[in-house]
Amino acid sequence: MKKTWWKEAVVYQIYPRSFNDSNGDGIGDLNGVTEKLDYLDELGINIIWICPMYKSPNVDNGYDISDYQAIMEEMGTMEDFERLLEEVHKRGMRLIIDLVINHTSDQHPWFVESRSSKDSTKRDWYVWRDQQTNWECIFGGPAWTFDPKSNQYYLHIFTKNQVDLNWENEDMRKAVYEMIRWWLDKGVDGFRVDAINHIKKEYSDMPNPKNLPYVPAWEKFTEVEGLQEMLAELKEKAFSGYDIVTVGEANSVKSHDMEQWISEHEGKFNMIFHREALEAASDEVNGGLDVEDLREVLDRWQKAAHGVAWNSLYLENHDRPRTVSIWGNDRDYWFESATALGCMYFFMQGTPFIYQGQEIGMTNAPFDDIDMYNDIETKNMYRYNRKEGIPHEDLMKIIKTISRDHARTPMQWNSRKYGGFSTAEPWLAVNPNYKWLNVEAQKDDPKSIWSYYKKMIHLRQNWDVLVYGTTNLTDSGCPDVYAYVREDRYTKMLIASNLSERPCTWNTPYDAELLLTNYEKRVKGVLQPYEACIYFMKKEIYG
Ligand code: GLC
Ligand code: CA
Repeated sequence: MKKTWWKEAVVYQIYPRSFNDSNGDGIGDLNGVTEKLDYLDELGINIIWICPMYKSPNVDNGYDISDYQAIMEEMGTMEDFERLLEEVHKRGMRLIIDLVINHTSDQHPWFVESRSSKDSTKRDWYVWRDQQTNWECIFGGPAWTFDPKSNQYYLHIFTKNQVDLNWENEDMRKAVYEMIRWWLDKGVDGFRVDAINHIKKEYSDMPNPKNLPYVPAWEKFTEVEGLQEMLAELKEKAFSGYDIVTVGEANSVKSHDMEQWISEHEGKFNMIFHREALEAASDEVNGGLDVEDLREVLDRWQKAAHGVAWNSLYLENHDRPRTVSIWGNDRDYWFESATALGCMYFFMQGTPFIYQGQEIGMTNAPFDDIDMYNDIETKNMYRYNRKEGIPHEDLMKIIKTISRDHARTPMQWNSRKYGGFSTAEPWLAVNPNYKWLNVEAQKDDPKSIWSYYKKMIHLRQNWDVLVYGTTNLTDSGCPDVYAYVREDRYTKMLIASNLSERPCTWNTPYDAELLLTNYEKRVKGVLQPYEACIYFMKKEIYG
């Protein structure tokens, strides 16, 4: 496989609203990110992905953009962005930004113009219909909203303030490509491309045997026939000619379909984020982890991609709860399970992503009150389900496990008030465990989660085999142990993580040299609860 910088990199995802507040208004901002670049450099990060910082009314925290070429007021100014980019580059790192082009805010001048009249030159830049289809939107409620002024419905697959662009319209597409190249000319190093599996739609009703007011309609706006041609044009007209990395958010994609998305010969992106593994491995409502299912899916992706395409490796992002809380055990095995889960995914073939706070084992927030939550998806889900008579307690139980806000509580820097995130009360409450769970408490402790992550990053960056080698599962004889071998001509590495509280029988291969583990004392013949080990194996080379 061709060697490139983004295959050898470790990426750190920043949710800027929650990362670091530089001016004491309780909201994280761009200067706050710049202040922490040395921190990221010290951890060993190569690429930073920053979630939307564009001008936005913040219905969905920046995923509703009202001006693609301006910075959101709370985040700072365009000069702040340029300084951030320059400071990132000075340190030899790269910066990729979030590209939200399935929809704009209803406040975007394009939509304001479009809704002004049926004859507007931008009418067709969005989707207007006399009749709505019976679709439900992703965040609950109907996917169409009636506009009394122009007497038609417009489409929105997320919230009614996130209006879907009409990708069938050539002028609209041209405007989007121009905007993208404007950012590239500014020097950004690539994009994470939001919800890109949804830009093509098929406008027909869903079957509706129960006669519901609206019906979940994924198949009508997900990977619809003709999507790949649209993506090919996006690649050619917007991305080509620059040395960048593109990562498509395409949650629905399965391994057997992966080639058209990310293969070196016909892919439209360098990598995608899919959710196949995360969904297979876990009960969305109750959490928990099925290691066998996880292994089946991840191995399938590893095999399908090897020599053909490149994987993205991730456990967390701003849309998911904290892994140590849902898949690990954040009470009794907080350190062990956070590091074992990290070890499991970090050394596969692909580019690992770390979501802010993951490197210190941040946990789900213990918010009991619905008013403590901010996320529009959580709030809508609560509202619509209450309307249908689902009891408050049942909904809170789900929300306490899966709300996106668990990943969005402010970054915990130290044990001072508000976790050192801000000097003012933050927009979303800090997790009260900040007093002991914070960066300052871990950075100089060689036995911390932070130090473990730093060592993992270091290993990846120093062993070619961990980037380009083959990946093969190895049978540990224990269903809860995730074990695999990375191998190239010269080197062989064995990575084994016990992802449960049960000790597992484990016979260390006789010729293995331990490179890293999360236990101080090993026990012969056993992998202890959440014990993880990385071994260097002697390799005989013939010929
Ligand atoms: C993506 C983002 C999510 C956002 C949605 C709508 O899934 O990751 O945060 O709410 O798209 O833009
Ligand atoms: Ca601020």
